Amino acid sequence: MKISKICCIGAGYVGGPTMAVIAKMNPNIQVTIVDINQERIDAWNDKDVSKLPIYEPGLAEIVAETRGKNLYFSTEIDKAIDESEMIFISVNTPTKTYGKGKGMAADLKYVELCARNIADVAKTDKIVVEKSTLPVRTAQAIKSILHNTGSNVKFDILSNPEFLAEGTAIQDLLNPDRVLIGGESEEAIEALANIYGSWVPQDQILRTNVWSSELSKLTANAFLAQRISSINAISELCERTEADVSEVARAIGMDSRIGSKFLNASIGFGGSCFQKDILNLVYIARSYGLNEVADYWEQVIILNDHQKRRFSDNLISTLYNTVSGKKIAMLGWAFKKDTNDTRESAAIYVADHLLSEQANIAVYDPKVPSKKVYVDLNYLQTRSEDENKALVETFDDPYEAVKDAHAIAIMTEWDEFKTYDWKKIFNLMKKPAFIFDGRNILNKDEMTEIGFEYSSIGK
Ligand code: NAD
Ligand code: UDX
Repeated sequence: MKISKICCIGAGYVGGPTMAVIAKMNPNIQVTIVDINQERIDAWNDKDVSKLPIYEPGLAEIVAETRGKNLYFSTEIDKAIDESEMIFISVNTPTKTYGKGKGMAADLKYVELCARNIADVAKTDKIVVEKSTLPVRTAQAIKSILHNTGSNVKFDILSNPEFLAEGTAIQDLLNPDRVLIGGESEEAIEALANIYGSWVPQDQILRTNVWSSELSKLTANAFLAQRISSINAISELCERTEADVSEVARAIGMDSRIGSKFLNASIGFGGSCFQKDILNLVYIARSYGLNEVADYWEQVIILNDHQKRRFSDNLISTLYNTVSGKKIAMLGWAFKKDTNDTRESAAIYVADHLLSEQANIAVYDPKVPSKKVYVDLNYLQTRSEDENKALVETFDDPYEAVKDAHAIAIMTEWDEFKTYDWKKIFNLMKKPAFIFDGRNILNKDEMTEIGFEYSSIGK
């Protein structure tokens, strides 16, 4: 089956970059990304590509190249569904905040709405592709909705989870380790494999059944997050034993069975995926009565929460057990470098803890807009919006942010932090001047030489 028109529901961190790359690599396919969020679609259509809603290195260039040629952004969802032969569902699947499974299960209401929308609108046969990360067996629910429309329209459902990481999304999409397609219909699988085949070698396009595909995505994220919690657990032991976590990571990473990637000790992982997907995995395991399996994976989250908490506890105890009325400058608010995404960023939780101890927080992040910082803190509802406004200040200039600060907390590993004039920063700060390097990006000897009281993770 030859596909000439694709629609993607959800113009977010996955839908946007993924479809932009598909459009770039398949100039003969018309790709329309639709969303209910008018503001987001307007931003995607902004003439000035520096104003796209998502910051990803390389994305603006691809959008500039393809937009208006074979890539379109629109809120006309029904029209795009109607016209397309293949529809990707790439909407958010956050952790439920209400009812059964609250705080654990994935909230599938947006996915279900998409399925119902497709069922209502479709007049011709469609291939429906799950791009969102979904609990194993979700395709069954989508299938049941689509196959009960009473019409003669035929729907094939595929699972095609996305493995891109933010900050490197375009590189990950252009050179994926693998593309995974799960489905029943060989014809539908090959139609999608053909689209990826424009740039991905066929032996890297894995075909499997829907359930294995769905579960592989949750498992991949669980394994990745588990590595971070493992090295973070060791980082605490390093701090007590004069071992250096970077040296330990280097030594174990050279074992080819372990591998060297994803062993950077940190303030704890953030991002929209890891926590949500592990909680979901834990919930699914419990729902099958597999309590040992559930407990095993839950520990990854428990350790991660502990790592965030111990970072702020350590900061407070080092500052003579009180941060009340003290200015703490936070460098970085995004959950990792090279993205403007702040979802589940460790910075939010560390700031919230310090604010509860009456600290004054100064935030500088090169890509996160000021209003996002307040939205993130207000969302926690720990204190009133007015109090957050009074205690937190955001800055466009890092040197302004650190002026008269008692301490700097490095929350994101932005490259620019490494090249700052740290002598100048030292002179601007109150003494003793403390640095808490939550990302281990600065050189301890250099910082100590300048005069800083420097501490990092796992050293
Ligand atoms: P996002 O919140 O950035 O984007 C989702 C978009 O879907 C939003 O713009 C929202 O307005 C839109 N939407 C919701 N319901 C809709 C509806 N009924 N009709 C039209 N639009 C609708 O989310 P994201 O980060 O792109 O994640 C999407 C999915 O991909 C999630 O399941 C996530 O787990 C998965 N995923 C994310 C990443 C990542 O790095 N962010 C990586 C791999 C997989
Ligand atoms: C993750 C997965 O990597 C990706 O495959 C999936 O599709 C979506 O979820 P993402 O969350 O965008 O991607 O970024 P990732 O690079 O995995 O980082 C997640 C968090 O872990 C960040 O807060 C990062 O700083 C932290 N991290 C990562 C560490 O603390 N140490 C590491 O060694 C690696």
